[in-house]
Amino acid sequence: MEKGLFITFEGCDGCGKTTQINLLKDFFEKNKREVILTREPGAKGLGEKLREILLNYNGKVSDRCEEFLFLADRAQNIDEVIKPALSAGKIVLCDRHTDSTIAYQGYGRGLDIQRLKDLNNIATGGLKPDLTFIFDIDVQTSMARVGKNKDRMESAGMEFHKRVRQGYLELAKEDPDRIKVISALKTVEEIHQEILNLLANYI
Ligand code: TYD
Repeated sequence: MEKGLFITFEGCDGCGKTTQINLLKDFFEKNKREVILTREPGAKGLGEKLREILLNYNGKVSDRCEEFLFLADRAQNIDEVIKPALSAGKIVLCDRHTDSTIAYQGYGRGLDIQRLKDLNNIATGGLKPDLTFIFDIDVQTSMARVGKNKDRMESAGMEFHKRVRQGYLELAKEDPDRIKVISALKTVEEIHQEILNLLANYI
């Protein structure tokens, strides 16, 4: 059986992750590998309900409640989707994961980062991505790409999103072996090629 591979895609809103995830999925499938696409928040089932609350609930959501809901969603995604797929030797492509929590709830909301990492470790059962791509983009361009129709997280303001971007760059510095930063301002084809080059050591 082939060995499973867990790849996560990260970056500010509007950074173009989804296009790249789909291109990579096609690449793996052409190479006869089985691929599972998932996302956080909201892989499926219960996760979709949590996503609805996290992105669209209009009332007050405390920062700590938000933190636990994202972590609860992650625990469900790990147990229901990610672990079974990796055990079956599949490639898992996950649209956002742990680094989103550290960047958005830690750097963005200002929650204690070490505590977040510890709680996250409980939610994931210690499972970590093999490889993470962060699509880096300046906040002005990212917000312009998102447009007027913003969800709850996208409406958190420019300063919040600047801290999120900074957070991602800090995380990449801390763990350069796992996290690769790619400029989201390059063309779709250039980015795809860069991903394939970075993946060469893993496949
Ligand atoms: P989504 O529509 O999936 O955004 P995108 O298409 O940009 O990936 O919305 C997910 C939002 O939730 C996004 O603003 C980032 C945020 N988020 C957190 O704040 N913490 C987390 O742990 C995760 C997984 C996402």
